[in-house]
Parts: sequence; C-alpha cells; structure tokens
Amino acid sequence: MEQVKVFLDESDIPRQWYNILADMPTPMSPPLHPGTGQPVGPDDLAPVFPMNLIEQEVSSERWIDIPEEVLEKYLLWRPTPLYRARNFEKLLDAPVQIYYKHEGVSPPGSHKPNTAIAQAYYNKAFGIERLSTETGAGQWGSALSMACQMFGLECRVFMVRVSYDQKPYRRLMMMTWGANCVPSPSDLTAAGRKIMAENPDSPGSLGIAISEAIEDAVADEKARYSLGSVLNHVLLHQTIIGLEAQKQMEKIGVYPNVVMGCAGGGSNFAGVALPFVRDKIHGKELSVVAAEPSSCPTMTRGPFAYDFGDTAMTTPLLPMYTLGHDFVPAPIHAGGLRYHGMAPVVSHLVKEGIIEPRAFNQLETFTAGVNWARTEGFISAPETNHVIAAVVQEAERAKEEGKEKVILFNWSGHGLVDLAAYEAFLSGQLTNYALPEEEIRRALQTIEQFPKP
Ligand SMILES: Cc1ncc(COP(=O)(O)O)c(C=O)c1O
Repeated sequence: MEQVKVFLDESDIPRQWYNILADMPTPMSPPLHPGTGQPVGPDDLAPVFPMNLIEQEVSSERWIDIPEEVLEKYLLWRPTPLYRARNFEKLLDAPVQIYYKHEGVSPPGSHKPNTAIAQAYYNKAFGIERLSTETGAGQWGSALSMACQMFGLECRVFMVRVSYDQKPYRRLMMMTWGANCVPSPSDLTAAGRKIMAENPDSPGSLGIAISEAIEDAVADEKARYSLGSVLNHVLLHQTIIGLEAQKQMEKIGVYPNVVMGCAGGGSNFAGVALPFVRDKIHGKELSVVAAEPSSCPTMTRGPFAYDFGDTAMTTPLLPMYTLGHDFVPAPIHAGGLRYHGMAPVVSHLVKEGIIEPRAFNQLETFTAGVNWARTEGFISAPETNHVIAAVVQEAERAKEEGKEKVILFNWSGHGLVDLAAYEAFLSGQLTNYALPEEEIRRALQTIEQFPKP
C-alpha cells in the first residue's frame, strides 16, 4: 500500500509562529494615517485592537512563541494531516506529486480558527470582554464565535444581510457557539442606521459590515474589533500551516517545487507559503503561486498603491495591490475571495517578484472542485477550488514541459455549507464574469489622490 497521509504527533506541533518581517529582502512601506499622511503608531490602533496584538502587528522578531493556552486549543484539530492526492494525480496523468494540508478538519471547517483562537486568547489576556467582527458568507464569523466561546468572551458578528438571509447554516453555527449574529446593515450603529435610512432593503456589503463592527467595538471600552485576514498578525498565526507542512515533508524526504494557495485577503495562502518563502529568500529554488478569481483580480490587474482596507474608509491607508476600496466584485460563490485589497505582506512579495499571482474564472474553479470531489472525496469550499484550478494548470504545464514537479497546496476548507453553489454549477446556472478594464479604471479613481508607496 502506498502512503496517503503524513501525521505529526501532538508533541511535534510547532511551538512558535514564523514572522516574515524579519526576513523581508526590502523594507515595506508603513500603513499611513489618512488624516495626517504619517505612519500610524500603536496608539492610533489602541481603540480598535488590544496592545498585545498591536505589538505583534509591528514586531520584527523572527519567531514568536505560541502561548500554551493557544496550543492547548490547537490540539483539538492540529497538527492537521498532510495528504498526498494520489487519486487526483491519476486523473491528471501528469508528472506531478501533489501534497495538500487539510485545514478542513477544524471544527468550523477551515483555516480561520488558527488566528481566531490566538486573537481571542490575546484579547482575553488584555482584559477585553467582547469582540466584534464582520463576516460575509460566515467562515470567519463561525471561527471567531467558537474561539470566543472557548475563552469566555462575548462575540458579536455583523453578517452581510444577503448572506444572513440566504445562508442560515453558518449563522446557526455562530449561534450554537453562543455568538450574537446581527444582519448588517443594522440599527445598532450610526453607520447601519444611515444606510437603512437611505435604503431600507439594503442587502449589505462587507464594507458596511466592517464599518459597523469597528464602530461597535470602538464605542465600548471593554470591546475590541477582530479581523480574519490581511493584517500581519493574522498571517503570522496562519504560519503554523506551513511550519507543520515543512516537518511533514521532511519526514518523507520531499521538498516542493511549487507552493500554492488561494488568496482573498491573503491569510491561508501566506500561512502555507511564508515558511517556504523564507527558504526562497535564502536561496532555495521554488515557485510560490497565489490563486485569485478573475472577477476580483486584485494582484493580477490592480496597481500596488495606498488604499483603505474597507469601503467606509475607516482603516489606515495600507500599501497593497487594490482594485479601489469601493470596487464591488461580482457575486461569485467564493465569498471569501471577494475583497478589493490584498495583505500588505503578500502584496510586497508579489511586487518583489517572489510570489506569482494567477487568476482563475468561476467555471474552471468549480470544474476542478468537482473533479477533486470525484477523486479525492472531499468537497472543497468554493474559495479552495481556486487553488485546485491552479494545481490543474501547474500539472498541465509540467506535462507540456516534460518536467517532474512536487506541488504543495493548502486545502483551506470544506464546502459542506456551500452546497447551493455546487447545485448552481451542476445545474448549469453558473457563469463567468468578465471584468471590463473600464470598471477597474473607474474604481481606481477613488485612490488617485492618496500618497504613492
Ligand atoms: C475556506 C476559505 N478559503 C480561503 C478564504 C480566503 O481568505 P484568506 O485569503 O484570508 O485565506 C476564505 C475566506 O473566507 C475561506 O473561508
């Protein structure tokens, strides 16, 4: 019998997260205060995040200890298995070995609790009693709800109204884990009331939900805001994925030629990739590929520029690839990839040519995902299907070039709560969304007056 899974003992779980800021080959531009145009300092962020996480956000320590209390919770599902996708390899019939980290084994079913657990712990340690956040389709909201319950924090999740109405199962997961899940726009905040006054039937958006969650947190001294992607400390917490994968691959004596992940805000991709990017910076030869939707082509078609992280312009200006903060992506089913920006760390590495972004359209991602389910068994989240499409492309290239390759990718989550998307695909109702250059140009007009990184 050929080996399919590589496990690590619980005692082999990594004890530290890896901070790429210690190894960046060139300096990154700092986040700017939109009012003064000056770099933001820790005090500017203090009403929004607890100081212990702000310190992590700006730290350049290479290794950061994972607290015992966080490790204890990680052990509920970590270390996650490394799989070899032998059945999918057979289907592709190309000279590739395909390995993947199975992050779908966490209780909410994705990589998101790797940071949710850490953020809940640090907020609790700082004396915070309640966290406020936003969620689109609900992966992040459900992960934070579980984490807050585990550390005795209250949790309020502003869920984009259209998802709240159309996707009851993630909302019910949040409620089961004890969170207060509110459809956004809501009457709990000035931002929500303003939108509702203008349009009582507003379906909501991630931008509105972020504004409500920040306003809600800042108004309550005992509360803070929590973000599930994009920021340095979130990417840091996700590096446990790549660090485990390194140990697992070492155990079987292989090293990848290509490391891949899908990228919405950049956190699961960074999680698997950054420990390998460290090797690349120090001379190893490998490709690092980030897969994004062609209908929201932040890295492949957007400029590297300063822009707000949210539609309501409440965050600092971040140096990143962006499509403009009021860009409204097409209603693709991969809700977690519908974000106008990209993590500054990932953006910087793309700009430096260390990471290669590639875009995939909705139909090719679902075709890849269904082929995956029919061979490997597991049904992927629509976001995850983007990286599977990238794996298919890489295998085809290997075949054309007649080159053997070892591919590692992050299987970021299962799609068992996203089956309506599969129904749409299987019944032929899904379409691709072409994005006219004109639309990108229009959205980018909103950032023309900002400083250039
Ligand atoms: C399963 C899954 N994969 C990927 C993503 C994209 O987010 P990120 O780029 O932060 O990993 C999400 C976001 O919700 C998700 O739920």
